[in-house]
Amino acid sequence: MMRLGCCYYPEHWPEEMWAEDARRMVDMGLTRVRIGEFAWSRIEPQPWRYDWAWLDRAIETLHGAGLGIILGTPTATPPKWLVDKMPDMLAIDGQGDERRFGSRRHYCFSHLGYRGECARITAALVERYGNHPGIVAWQTDNEYGCHDTIVSYSHSAAQGFRRWLERRYPDVAALNTAWGNVFWSQEYRSFAEIDPPFLTVTEPNPAHVLDYRRFASDEVVSFNRAQVDILRAGSPGRDIVHNYMGFFTEFDHHAVSRDLDVATWDNYPIGFLEQFWFSRDEKLRYARQGHPDIAAFHHDLYRGCANGRWWVMEQQPGPVNWAAHNPAPMPGMVRLWTLEAAAHGAELVSYFRWRQAPFGQEMHHAGLLRPDSVDDVGAHEARAVASDLAALGDLGPPPKSVALLFSYEAAWLFEAQPQGRSFRYMELVFGMYSALRRMGLDVDIVPVDAPLDGYKMVVAPSLPILGADLVERLAGLGIPVLFGPRSGSRTRDFQIPDGLPPGNLRSAVPITIPCVESLREGLIEQGDGFDINRWFEHVETDLVAEEALTDGRGVVYANGSLRYLAGWPDEVLLSRLFTRMAAEVAIETVALPADLRLRRAGDMTFAFNYGPEPIDLGAITDRPLIIGEHLLPPAGVATWR
Ligand code: GAL
Repeated sequence: MMRLGCCYYPEHWPEEMWAEDARRMVDMGLTRVRIGEFAWSRIEPQPWRYDWAWLDRAIETLHGAGLGIILGTPTATPPKWLVDKMPDMLAIDGQGDERRFGSRRHYCFSHLGYRGECARITAALVERYGNHPGIVAWQTDNEYGCHDTIVSYSHSAAQGFRRWLERRYPDVAALNTAWGNVFWSQEYRSFAEIDPPFLTVTEPNPAHVLDYRRFASDEVVSFNRAQVDILRAGSPGRDIVHNYMGFFTEFDHHAVSRDLDVATWDNYPIGFLEQFWFSRDEKLRYARQGHPDIAAFHHDLYRGCANGRWWVMEQQPGPVNWAAHNPAPMPGMVRLWTLEAAAHGAELVSYFRWRQAPFGQEMHHAGLLRPDSVDDVGAHEARAVASDLAALGDLGPPPKSVALLFSYEAAWLFEAQPQGRSFRYMELVFGMYSALRRMGLDVDIVPVDAPLDGYKMVVAPSLPILGADLVERLAGLGIPVLFGPRSGSRTRDFQIPDGLPPGNLRSAVPITIPCVESLREGLIEQGDGFDINRWFEHVETDLVAEEALTDGRGVVYANGSLRYLAGWPDEVLLSRLFTRMAAEVAIETVALPADLRLRRAGDMTFAFNYGPEPIDLGAITDRPLIIGEHLLPPAGVATWR
């Protein structure tokens, strides 16, 4: 059964409060508590002088109350004395400026001295608590990349990049060829001459940028692995986790997750709706709920990271402080988000945070408790969820239906060379995911090397670097596969493939794309009942198009079980294509009301109402409900077998 927990900062509160806090957590139905991830200045107030006494007592108190503790390494918040000791550990931004002390995440992943300090503090923690019976898991650092902190242009990063390039290319001549450096006389005579791609007069070479992004991601992987290795050796049997963010692609989460036991993420549906690309209408309609696919999208993405094991490490319990506008959740939404995580297979949902802080940057961020310790809305809803979960019992495994192939490298590639401002990978992926979900389908978002047996259809929103082996594997599945625009359009070195795009896909879907266009907002190519916007590709082929513009130019081409989509689709086209693909393999689809979403877990179906009005489930099911009502109110959840 899914567990509940919260994020707690004993160092923020007088010690006299700890025992009562722990008692109330347990009373609320929580069994896990995450602590410690920002506490470096209290653990080591002076260089090499550790103060364990308070943390010992905090751990004893929480453990004594029956809570399992997730202990964070504090490396997202190096203390002032450490930064003053090695000021070049600070990251350098794209303008060449230092990212200074005074908030958090003020470090460069490539600084070897800082890495040494991280290893030291991690080893000290694990030596002290590695075998403590109260410690059930470790969290490495906190939210890699939060506040735009993956890519740094520091001296350490430049040196690390050169070493990385030397490992990747046999010699500098090979690098010059791969990057096409003859263009604009960008050729190098040695690796030592190569700088990070920043502060150039006009855009830097996209191949240079892509390699820098690959390097920056690898730096996160090795930074994380160093901590994982220490934790594994010193604290056997505990889960090692990291907490990922929403709509964040700056490093390869699949690669980091290979070293973890559990992928966790921080779910702030209202903040994400406000901060990302959603339309004004969506921002208003879902202001207090979040868009119906935001939370689910990340649940399905992060479930695909660490062999299916995932948690919500931080769940919004009320208004947050960090978006442009921060409305309070509609009553019932904290419960809905929590049950939705259960429906998608989470092992834990932990609320951020236990009590709202009366000081510091986040004093407007709600907790389960108000600063005066009175139960806030989140606390009441957490209690309700605890009894819902008990009523539901153990849920069966997530079904295998649609696999959506996700590539972090694709996101970097399109950022390095968008060719049209509105071609944004995450939006393309989310649009396709959303279209599948509006048809009531269950989706697994998986890396391109994931085993795909058992799935009924595959959607690759875009795979610009598409190996011949992957094309062969997908064709061999014999189930419908859709490739989105720009698939196969680049080699691994960021060049246009021989014989033109879609490169390796041409052997399976015989088309050639000699020209692509990006389209400004309002410049639309009219199809038969649908619109192509943002992006359109010209196709040469003998195949007859499955979908075309009104002037006859083709948009979708099918050959055998594979399809290629030569433009940025709207909802009509997506739903037409996915309905057709689903029919080919006899998967049932429904046209759901706009605000309703379904999710299956074992033999149980969940329905979630994200809208501001009640929804009649009569057309969806006549089964008796385990929780909820057939006229599902706003923020309502219903389940049936
Ligand atoms: C997360 C972060 C937490 C806290 C929270 C506020 O990004 O991990 O430490 O800042 O946001 O919503």
